[in-house]
Amino acid sequence: MKGIKKIEFLDYADEYGHLSPIEEKKDVPFEIKRVYYITKVNKNVRRGFHSHKNLEQVLVCINGSVTILVKSPYEEQEIVLNDATEGLYIGPMVWREMFNFSDQAVLLVLASELYDINDYVRDYSIYEIAAKEYFKDKLI
Ligand code: TYD
Repeated sequence: MKGIKKIEFLDYADEYGHLSPIEEKKDVPFEIKRVYYITKVNKNVRRGFHSHKNLEQVLVCINGSVTILVKSPYEEQEIVLNDATEGLYIGPMVWREMFNFSDQAVLLVLASELYDINDYVRDYSIYEIAAKEYFKDKLI
């Protein structure tokens, strides 16, 4: 789907465990200005329900599992994240919802910008109009 992609991180594994490094502009395609994580989400909670005008993010489920619905006016996809070596890049103007958080799920999010409430689009009908235009000529 346009506006998203899977990223495989390196996985240094030995008898002492696993280690995955993430460097800006290398393992993720932007400078990392903000990191946050979502934890202790109850079963049956669905969150997100927004897109961003400019923000780029990479989601990594570093423990447990979570399902991400990514959606545009033209396409949609459900992606299960359950592997700490795998990231989901979500570009601007992609609608996202997060659900099916497992017990102990930890969703780490790397973001290209500081928190900006004005970058959010939370009204789906407004989103749909803007995103139709945004994705009209996009190739990836
Ligand atoms: P919100 O973006 O609504 O979470 P979600 O889309 O995952 O349901 O954020 C929840 C709260 O956290 C909201 O009060 C705003 C605050 N927040 C920050 O202060 N800084 C941040 O970087 C983020 C992502 C959220």
